[in-house]
Amino acid sequence: MAFKVGLLGLGTVGTGTVEILRDPAQRHPLLQELVIHKVGVRSLDKARSLNLSADLLTTDLDAIVTDPEIDIVVEVMGGLEPARSLILKALAHKKHVVTANKAAIARFGDEIFTAASEAGVYVLLEAAVGGGIPVIEPLKQSLCANRINTVIGIVNGTTNYILTRMQTEGGDFGEILADAQQLGYAEADPTADVDGLDAADKIAILASLAFSGRIKLSEVYCEGIRQIGAADIAYAEKLGFVIKLLAIAKRESDQQLQVRVHPTLVPKTHPLASVNDVYNAILIEGDPIGQVMFFGRGAGAGPTASAVVSDILNIAAILKVGRGQVTQADGTPLLDPLLACS
Ligand code: HSE
Repeated sequence: MAFKVGLLGLGTVGTGTVEILRDPAQRHPLLQELVIHKVGVRSLDKARSLNLSADLLTTDLDAIVTDPEIDIVVEVMGGLEPARSLILKALAHKKHVVTANKAAIARFGDEIFTAASEAGVYVLLEAAVGGGIPVIEPLKQSLCANRINTVIGIVNGTTNYILTRMQTEGGDFGEILADAQQLGYAEADPTADVDGLDAADKIAILASLAFSGRIKLSEVYCEGIRQIGAADIAYAEKLGFVIKLLAIAKRESDQQLQVRVHPTLVPKTHPLASVNDVYNAILIEGDPIGQVMFFGRGAGAGPTASAVVSDILNIAAILKVGRGQVTQADGTPLLDPLLACS
């Protein structure tokens, strides 16, 4: 039996998600069992690159999150409201939720995860931090035997792109920002990127997972890159450093954490110094594992949709096991036995 997906939002990430779900190359056998049931959009009249049948599209987002036929709601509309209310309503209607919404999770994570746990459903959010880079699930699963001491990341592609171009070309901040927007990296309102707020949301989420607590955004020190000029970059270069916007979460003691976002002088020999352009990287230090670094494209339609669709597939796999189905449509065994237990 197919799994029905309801999509909230058809912007950059939503479009990328539909493209993977409809890709005839079918990267994963379980994709054959996913059906896009409805796609919620703000306007039916907008010109779109995707050729979607008109009866899939609706502006009635409430109808998607309450539709008894839908198993998985995918929230890729972004913003706080109505995204938060729609996620909560979907959970109340026992839908599993996949979201890329770092702002909503960083602010309303407690409320959302409590609602999910009461409803007995999953909320997966791999796309919320680091675009296509797997870092949420590793923190939740593969690294969970460790005591994490630090998480240091370049988690905002737009600012890393701007700083990299200022470093390599000495270009103008405004022009480079406009390019980043045109390339689909920066948000429509770039304030969240350049003032470090987007990175603060992301490190609050990573720190909450790494330190098994709830990091309030108000407790994250946050400073963006607006004040960085060509002279700062040139001085840093002379001294053997590059300037990066780092998001840092550090265990100071059993009782104390430091969570901060700010431009930082990074020695050129440090692994994060060579993370350039829209690439993100997250360096995690834990005991007993030591250092692990995750690197990849942290923004853009394809990478972010990769994380969204992987979350959808993971939920579909769990649902199949729950239904007693342990093979995929092509007869191959269903994923990993560990996943079946999660
Ligand atoms: N504006 C974000 C960035 C998009 O530049 O990293 C991905 O969250």
